[in-house]
Amino acid sequence: MSKLKIGLFGFGCVGSGLYKVLNESKQLDAEIVSIVAKNKHKPREKTKIPISFEPEAILDNELINVVVELINNSEEAYLIIKKAIQSKKHIVTANKKLLSEHLDELIALAKENGVSLLYEASVAGSIPIIRNLEEYYNNDTLTSIEGIVNGTSNYILSQSNKGISYTNALKDAQEKGFAEVDPKFDVEGFDSVFKLTILIKHAFGLSIASNQLLTVGIKNLKEQDVRFVKEKKFRVKLFAKAFKVENHLFAFVAPHLVDATHAAFDVGNEFNAIIVQAAYADKQLFYGKGAGSLPTASAVLSDISALNYNYAYEYRKTANAEVKLSDDLKLKVYIGSTNFSSLSEFQFEEIEDLYIGIDYAYQIGTISLTELLKVNWNERIELSLLLFSEQKINKQMKPIQNSNFNFLKKDNSYYSIH
Ligand code: HSE
Repeated sequence: MSKLKIGLFGFGCVGSGLYKVLNESKQLDAEIVSIVAKNKHKPREKTKIPISFEPEAILDNELINVVVELINNSEEAYLIIKKAIQSKKHIVTANKKLLSEHLDELIALAKENGVSLLYEASVAGSIPIIRNLEEYYNNDTLTSIEGIVNGTSNYILSQSNKGISYTNALKDAQEKGFAEVDPKFDVEGFDSVFKLTILIKHAFGLSIASNQLLTVGIKNLKEQDVRFVKEKKFRVKLFAKAFKVENHLFAFVAPHLVDATHAAFDVGNEFNAIIVQAAYADKQLFYGKGAGSLPTASAVLSDISALNYNYAYEYRKTANAEVKLSDDLKLKVYIGSTNFSSLSEFQFEEIEDLYIGIDYAYQIGTISLTELLKVNWNERIELSLLLFSEQKINKQMKPIQNSNFNFLKKDNSYYSIH
């Protein structure tokens, strides 16, 4: 490819980070020729090239062959990217919401126009997970992907272990540039579910709308839940999870209870971790910084560098994806509530434990995913949901060899795991 001439949209946390890392990457034959930002009045560090405020400065510049999109607004980003692709410019973006909502359309448009659409930075910051799913796991051996993909939530959870309040920890995450402009996307699980749909596309070849998936964030967790978690020597991790059993795909985002044997137990602060499970490789842990200016810029830099050798994702699994999204599953859960009577709304299949205190109650047991999907968890602030990460659901079940999990269908029959 001819020398990369970059038009950069967005000069905030990640954009300014990219500017710095590109200036320090002497071997990469790429230069930023134009920067477009939104806010004329925001104080910024001095750049060698003047910052413009009109998208046309990049979109109409024929010298520019790569658009790097790092703005917050996903609707504006969508229009910019569409136009840029139609002008035959390659795209590098970190915009998970935009990708989750428009991925198939943009993939088709990029193909039609003969350009690459790369987005390593959109999931798990600096961790090269998409490239690994595309290249190393370009076959159908993958069975499960489970990860902490939201740095802000993980940061808040880690700080709460140290006794720092939710409000202060969130404020800190915002100051450090981890949180979204509207942090509800972080703490209500939306950021994680957007990322999960992107991972599913590359891991299992399925296109899934984020609103099809159970999405529960950390916002509802209360002091009483934290006390329970500590007493039982667990930690809470917000997991985005997708796994295949036979040809059913299960996927959800929810806070999970993990014990000290879990690979993600010690993953703290803004770090992300993704545990991939595959038939022959068994478990692999990808670990790294999931948010912040330079770690995210590092993933953007890697995409830019891949354009030097005309890299494009191939989505090899999409064509022969046999799996279908399913909710035919039972899960072991903890549901807490400040209002005892609301626990009776839930149709538990089996109850293991029930605690009723003066101002708090919780119930532990087995419940179907379908039941959990009926609740709008983010609106029901009195309720907390925690999933057990080791789903040994039924005591009568015999553990299946080579598997950490036993999966039970709604009709009480079992999935066979190969
Ligand atoms: N707000 C996101 C996070 C930024 O905390 O992970 C990185 O996508």
